[in-house]
Amino acid sequence: MMKKLFIGGVLLLSTAFAASAFAAQPEAPADGIKMNRMSKVVIFNHSTHKDIKCTDCHHPVDGKEDFRSCATAGCHDNFDKKDKSVNSLYQAVHKAKDAKFKTCVACHVATAGDDKEKKKELAGCAKSKCHP
Ligand code: HEC
Ligand code: HEC
Repeated sequence: MMKKLFIGGVLLLSTAFAASAFAAQPEAPADGIKMNRMSKVVIFNHSTHKDIKCTDCHHPVDGKEDFRSCATAGCHDNFDKKDKSVNSLYQAVHKAKDAKFKTCVACHVATAGDDKEKKKELAGCAKSKCHP
């Protein structure tokens, strides 16, 4: 009897731990997010990126996990295509080399590899999956 109670207690505790660990992470929102801060709108779907770790895109800020949108004030809130600072939304999305975190284009280029058609499809400025 005591043993059963003990095991029950341990199970309860570990469930509580698991629940609190998950509580910090929000649900990924529904598909069809319009990224429309710049001239070309991109529709982003979490479902097509579900095998990628959330934190590969939602990178930590000041060492803390952060799920706010890219263009949150104080983050990538400069919408001038020519801006090259860390605040540049264009760079956060397109920078293909030496980016601190995985950008859309850097990963899409890597995903396409040597496949030229796939590269056009995933990293093209027009007639692509990003910019139809
Ligand atoms: C491939 C990159 C990528 C991955 C992986 C990813 N997300 Fe996102 N997420 C985005 C983008 C892009 C947006 C839209 C941001 C914007 O509107 O600026 C977004 C938006 C969100 C938002 C809404 C933010 C807001 O305040 O508007 C939440 C919450 C979120 N994601 C949670 C998650 C979770 C949880 C996971 C993992 C299960 C995840 N995301 C995986 C790219 C990603
Ligand atoms: C770490 C890798 C990775 C990152 C980062 C990433 N993607 Fe993708 N993305 C993929 C893969 C893999 C596919 C599916 C490719 C295929 O068709 O085989 C994809 C497909 C897509 C598609 C076409 C499918 C659909 O849902 O319409 C769009 C649009 C897209 N990504 C937008 C984005 C945007 C916008 C970002 C940045 C906010 C982003 N991706 C970041 C890996 C990534």
